Amino acid sequence: MSKKRLLTGDRPTGSQLHLGHYVGSLANRVRLQDEYETYILIADLHMLTTKNTKEDINAVRVNAVELVKDYLAVGIDPAKTTIYLQSAIHAVYEMNLFFEMLVTVPRLSRLPSLKDMARNAHLAEMPFGLLGYPVLQAADILMPRAHVVPVGKDNEAHVEITREIARRFNYLYGEVFPEPASIIEPTLIGIDGKAKMSKSLNNAIFLNDDPKTVEKKVHSMYTDPNRIHANIPGRVEGNPVFIYHDIFNPNKEEVEDLKARYRAGKVGDVEVKQKLARALNNFLDPIRERRAQVEADKGLAEQVIYEGTVKANKVAEETLLAMKKAMGLTGLWNKISRKGRDRLKRLEQAGENGS
Ligand code: TRP
Repeated sequence: MSKKRLLTGDRPTGSQLHLGHYVGSLANRVRLQDEYETYILIADLHMLTTKNTKEDINAVRVNAVELVKDYLAVGIDPAKTTIYLQSAIHAVYEMNLFFEMLVTVPRLSRLPSLKDMARNAHLAEMPFGLLGYPVLQAADILMPRAHVVPVGKDNEAHVEITREIARRFNYLYGEVFPEPASIIEPTLIGIDGKAKMSKSLNNAIFLNDDPKTVEKKVHSMYTDPNRIHANIPGRVEGNPVFIYHDIFNPNKEEVEDLKARYRAGKVGDVEVKQKLARALNNFLDPIRERRAQVEADKGLAEQVIYEGTVKANKVAEETLLAMKKAMGLTGLWNKISRKGRDRLKRLEQAGENGS
C-alpha cells in the first residue's frame, strides 16, 4: 500500500523560526515525514496577496533559502519530504482558476482570517487576490491530492473550503480528489506569558539564538507573579517556565523535583530558570550544529528546493491532466485542434500540388 500524502507550507516572509514554530509545526513535520509522503511548499504566491513590491519579491530568494536551512537543521529530510517553490509550479495557477468557479464570494468574504490579514497589511479594501487566498491554498493542497494538512488554527477554515471545493469538483466532474483533513498545530506561549510566541511580539526564543541570548531571555521570563520570594508557594500550572520544562527538558525527574519544590516554596526562580536555560541550550545544540553544517555546504538548500520543485512539477502536471480530462477540457481541445490541424495540412498539400 502506498503512503498517504501530507502537504503543508510556509510563506517566505523572512520571519526567523523560533521555538513556537518548532512546537507548532516543525516537530510534527519531522515526525510525520516517516508516516506520510510529505510535501512542504514555500508559498511565495500567497505572500504576494499582502506583499508584492519588487523588494518583497527580491527578498524571497534569501528568505526561502534561510527557511530551508532551518528545515534541514531541525531534521526535515529531503529524501522523505519534497520541498518546493510554489511560484515555479505552473499547474497550480491553472488549478486555482478552475477552483475559483467552485466557491462563492460571500463564502470567502465571511472568513475572519482574510479580514485579519487585510488589517495587518494596512489594506483599506480587500484585494481580489487576497479574497482568493484560500482558493490558491486549495490548489496547493489538491495538487498532490493530499490527505492531511497540518495548519495553524487560523488556517483551519481554509482546509474546510478546500474540502468543499474537492467535493464540488468530484460531484461535477467525477472523483478526482480525496477530501483532505486538517491537523491543527499546537501553539507555544511566549516568554512574556501573555500571548503565543511570535517575532512581532518580541517574546520569542529563536532557533539561531546563541547560548548567552537564550540564558538572558530565560532569566527575563514571566513566571508566577505572586511569588515575590522563593519561599512563597508558586503555581506550576500555566506557568511558562514549567510549560517549557515539560516540553524541552528530557530529565523528567529534575522537572518533577523542581515542580514539587516550587509548589512548596522551596526553590528560587533562578534555579528553575538556570535549569531551563541549560535544557533549552542542550535542545538547541544539535540544531545549531546541523545548521552550521548546512550553512557550510554551499548550494545545498538551493539543490533541495530545485529537486523538490522538479518532482512537485511532475505530480502537479499529472493532477492537472486528470482534472482537465475529468472536466472534458482535453477532449474539447483535442477535437478543435485536430480539425484545425487537418485543414491546415490540406491547405499545405493543395499549395504544394498547385505550385
Ligand atoms: N497559509 C499558510 C500560511 O499561513 C501557507 C500555506 C500556503 C499553506 N499554502 C498552504 C499551508 C497549503 C498549508 C497548506 O503561511
